Amino acid sequence: MPNEVILIAAVTVDGFIARHSREVTTWSKDLHLFKEQTLGHPVVMGSNTYDTLAAELEGRKMIVVHRNDNPISILESIKEDKCFIIGGGKTYARFTSHLTHLFITPHPLVMGRGIPLFDGEVPELNLKFQKMIPVDEKNGIFQYQYKVLKF
Ligand SMILES: NC(=O)c1ccc[n+]([C@@H]2O[C@H](COP(=O)([O-])OP(=O)(O)OC[C@H]3O[C@@H](n4cnc5c(N)ncnc54)[C@H](OP(=O)(O)O)[C@@H]3O)[C@@H](O)[C@H]2O)c1
Repeated sequence: MPNEVILIAAVTVDGFIARHSREVTTWSKDLHLFKEQTLGHPVVMGSNTYDTLAAELEGRKMIVVHRNDNPISILESIKEDKCFIIGGGKTYARFTSHLTHLFITPHPLVMGRGIPLFDGEVPELNLKFQKMIPVDEKNGIFQYQYKVLKF
């Protein structure tokens, strides 16, 4: 089981990660940072995300999650110290109880509808701000890094 299980996501200011399940995310500005941070680490994703993102994931061990998979068993199969949960909404929700960190990049966009960051029921989490990384400073886009505090 990795010591660090990190959710990484680009979100709109109204909390969506995509307009629909098959949308290829072209609006996010943090792909370069995503690639840099995840390089060399296992990345866990749902099958819809695999279909839209796989081409961008060279150099990472990809673990694709299906509906009958158990999140704990998936994490226990990872021998590395750190892994990233890279989406989508259904997968973020399923792994929420096991997260140690969240790396969130809000974007100046309102979708009004779509796939929410957590597409499913999730427990309440208390977060401690750790770091802010500039993504596109001129346009006010920063990645916010939080640690999950245990209750
Ligand atoms: N903005 C961002 O940072 C970001 C990051 C990642 C992804 N995305 C976007 O998010 C979208 C995909 O998100 P998503 O939530 O649709 O998919 P997802 O989490 O990538 O994959 C769907 C997951 O839910 C399971 N599932 C599907 N239908 C189900 C059902 N009825 N009951 C239980 N489980 C079910 C699937 O299992 P099966 O394989 O068994 O069907 C799969 O594990 C894409 O557009 C992608 O581009 C955005």
